[in-house]
Amino acid sequence: MSFRFDVITLFPELVDSVVKSGIPRRAVEQNAIELHCWNPRDYTTDKHRTVDGRPYGGGPGMVMKADCLLDTVKAVKQHSTAKVIYLSPQGKPLTQSAVQRFAQQENLILLCGRYEGIDERVIDIAVDEEWSIGDYVLSGGELAAMIVIDVLSRLLPNVLGHEDSAEQDSFTDGLLDCPHYTRPERVENLGIPDVLKSGNHAEIAKWRRQQALGRTKQRRPDLLQKLELSEEDKKLLSDYLKSSSNEERED
Ligand SMILES: C[S@@+](CC[C@H](N)C(=O)[O-])C[C@H]1O[C@@H](n2cnc3c(N)ncnc32)[C@H](O)[C@@H]1O
Repeated sequence: MSFRFDVITLFPELVDSVVKSGIPRRAVEQNAIELHCWNPRDYTTDKHRTVDGRPYGGGPGMVMKADCLLDTVKAVKQHSTAKVIYLSPQGKPLTQSAVQRFAQQENLILLCGRYEGIDERVIDIAVDEEWSIGDYVLSGGELAAMIVIDVLSRLLPNVLGHEDSAEQDSFTDGLLDCPHYTRPERVENLGIPDVLKSGNHAEIAKWRRQQALGRTKQRRPDLLQKLELSEEDKKLLSDYLKSSSNEERED
């Protein structure tokens, strides 16, 4: 059973490009995801196939029209029972855990705005949730929809090469990921931490956990505040902070 995305967009070729490479492409090849794009222009009724109109009350820019968007949603709903998600800078901030919740479902309908946005009545009538990818304004919702597709593809069973890869990613357990190294052993004057060459898996796991805790404390203390740390984690973190403040003193 594959996860079905229906994306409502004036730029289907842009959204389609997300499944042309990398992990989302592999997800399509493995039938883990299906992507269907729907162009509101195909649901217009005038000869110019108009999808936008001037805003009531005046002002700059254009607004995506309600009629063609609502007709597109109706058409999509004949193929999908999913929630309609409007990608919008005014939505809730998108997080890893939100996408993990999406991944529990079987399908999603993603609505991409353009211009000054969509007629508010489409949100009132047809949108279930609004999500934002960050506090900045894109020129359209397509990149945001592509982000949802990319992030969700990584979470579906067997899509990633190694089953554990996503489990170690940043945010999955509320922490940032630990640092990673690969060959060669020296890059300019930098080596790698000895423990990673020790072959001692318990010590390596402990070091990785400590690095993840320390990095999160230093870079994203807000994430750490949301977690209940075990006594062992507290000790790892305090040792990390002690040794990094010693390093700073030595510098
Ligand atoms: C130029 S924006 C419209 C912004 C709108 N006037 C506002 O300030 O809220 C056009 C479209 O891009 C998408 N968009 C822009 N920024 C976004 C963000 N941070 N997250 C998700 N979608 C975004 C939305 O679909 C929006 O309808």
